[in-house]
Amino acid sequence: MTAIVADDLVKDYGDVRALDGLSFEVEEGEFFGLLGPNGAGKTTFINILVGLARSTGGNAEVFGFDVEADYREARNRIGLAPQEFNVDRFFPIHEVLEHKAGYHGIAPEEAARRADEALKTVDIYDKRETRFDWLSGGMKRRFLLARALVTDPDLLILDEPTAGVDVELRRDLWDLVQRLNDDGTTVLLTTHYIEEAERLCDRVAIMDAGKKIEVATPEDLQSRGTDTLVVTLANDTVGVPDLDIEGVYDVSLEGRELSITADSAGGVAPDVVRALDRSGHAIENLDIRRASLEEVFVDMTRLDDDDSPDDQPEATAEASR
Ligand SMILES: Nc1ncnc2c1ncn2[C@@H]1O[C@H](COP(=O)(O)OP(=O)(O)OP(=O)(O)O)[C@@H](O)[C@H]1O
Ligand SMILES: [Mg+2]
Repeated sequence: MTAIVADDLVKDYGDVRALDGLSFEVEEGEFFGLLGPNGAGKTTFINILVGLARSTGGNAEVFGFDVEADYREARNRIGLAPQEFNVDRFFPIHEVLEHKAGYHGIAPEEAARRADEALKTVDIYDKRETRFDWLSGGMKRRFLLARALVTDPDLLILDEPTAGVDVELRRDLWDLVQRLNDDGTTVLLTTHYIEEAERLCDRVAIMDAGKKIEVATPEDLQSRGTDTLVVTLANDTVGVPDLDIEGVYDVSLEGRELSITADSAGGVAPDVVRALDRSGHAIENLDIRRASLEEVFVDMTRLDDDDSPDDQPEATAEASR
């Protein structure tokens, strides 16, 4: 079963084309990441899935239900923790959750039970009588997750759920979401913490300017970046040692640290060691730094920026909080 289908989606806001022919699919049970710089169209895509925005062209389906023609069926299967806080601020938070469950057709007694369970899951049960306004920033994020979970969704959509959240809470949230995914919940995640996507996601889509640039596993994307082999020499040396080795792109020396750029650091390491040995350089330490998904992501979205001079090149990985 396919959890999400995006088929040639277009969304115009006046002159702004927020989505420009976006197509990809997410399989049931996947942990899927949606990465892209500010303004790439991630939230717009999510808004179309949950019926907060109407597409200008193309189609989207959630578990086989068209998000417009079968709005109810599609929406009832989704739990959304949105990027922006949009919560009834004046009610105790457990009541907000009960309303939410009720809105999705869950009977009052069951709704109350689920509200308690969701608050316990995100560890703010002791705040159940408090109103949203009076929660701390991190608790607000937890509450949004509880609200997404209260309907026991098949598809959990998290739009930058860890923006501005402390390290410990981030780890808690990821453990929790990972567990939900292990139990079969499909997860769609957007984040600007690329290492988070690298660790959690089965596959990621990289998008920019409303278009999909790539869909692949994090490992596959990482392998497209270049590695660095860092060799610390035992003794000072004058000038960069001559390393004419196939697969080595660049060699630079800083102090006694030699940085060697290559497609595969592991692949060139034996040749590098032999060459240094032959030229009389003793080695103190050797370290392989693999390309991170973040580096590959920045490269891919920067390449795209070259085609559209209006974009800000610095508007990439960690830009929004
Ligand atoms: N309601 C709206 N009215 C007008 N323009 C909008 C609206 N919502 C989004 N846009 C525009 O659509 C484009 C995509 O915005 P969107 O919020 O989808 O980006 P995003 O990828 O979620 O970015 P971020 O990483 O900053 O959250 C932007 O140019 C934005 O200004
Ligand atoms: Mg967004």
